[in-house]
Amino acid sequence: MYNIAIDGPAGAGKSTIAKIVAKELGFIYVDTGSMYRTMALSCYRAGIKADEEEKVVAKCREAEISIRYENGVQKMKLNNEDVSGEIRQEVIGNMTSAIAVYGPVRERLVEMQRDIASKNNVVMDGRDIATAVLPNADLKIYLTASSKTRAERRYNELLEKGVDCNIEDIEKDIKDRDYRDMNREISPLKKADDAVLIDSSNMNIEEVVNKIKELAKEGK
Ligand code: CDP
Ligand code: CDP
Repeated sequence: MYNIAIDGPAGAGKSTIAKIVAKELGFIYVDTGSMYRTMALSCYRAGIKADEEEKVVAKCREAEISIRYENGVQKMKLNNEDVSGEIRQEVIGNMTSAIAVYGPVRERLVEMQRDIASKNNVVMDGRDIATAVLPNADLKIYLTASSKTRAERRYNELLEKGVDCNIEDIEKDIKDRDYRDMNREISPLKKADDAVLIDSSNMNIEEVVNKIKELAKEGK
């Protein structure tokens, strides 16, 4: 199997780029953030707060989450209900980085992620893919961009969806999330030594996609 790992902070372009690369190479795109988001949603629906560690861990252990690929598109299910849309809300994104610090929450998902990667050619994106989930991935990319650029991208995305928002608040949320993801004890976000760094602040989507495809070709 050929495995491509893409890690990086929120809004760097990971999912957009991973999706295109996967489609063009005929691989499966595995969005690990959605798996953590589904765990957060199960806690949110149960009225559990992110800092209630024992309750969060218990909920995440029993949560009935499953993952399906429909025409190459990943669908997340919670108790057999498709929650792929609901987990995209900002409130869930923020709660997700707060529950992703707990070891038992991560262990269950990492096992699912490794199982998918052992059976399929994948482009998998997240925070700890190259450093913890797939340390032997064939190609490792650390994709980043300045927090200002990332906030602008998120802002434009929300505006397009008709969501009323403020760019300063978005940048603050992004910085808080980066801080939590980079400073947690277990599997923090950091570049693996053997990952290729791509700063997309001044690169468009096509340029980044082409760069990754070139790297994959060189490695084959
Ligand atoms: O998955 P991640 O949070 O890293 O980012 P994303 O959701 O893929 O990208 C955030 C936004 O940035 C999307 O609207 C992308 O279309 C946009 N983007 C861009 O304008 N230029 C890039 N080079 C990469 C992403
Ligand atoms: O799309 P965006 O970058 O906003 O976030 P995401 O990829 O959906 O991930 C949401 C949160 O899940 C992140 O802020 C991380 O705290 C957590 N996460 C993680 O800890 N490990 C992963 N492999 C993927 C996501």
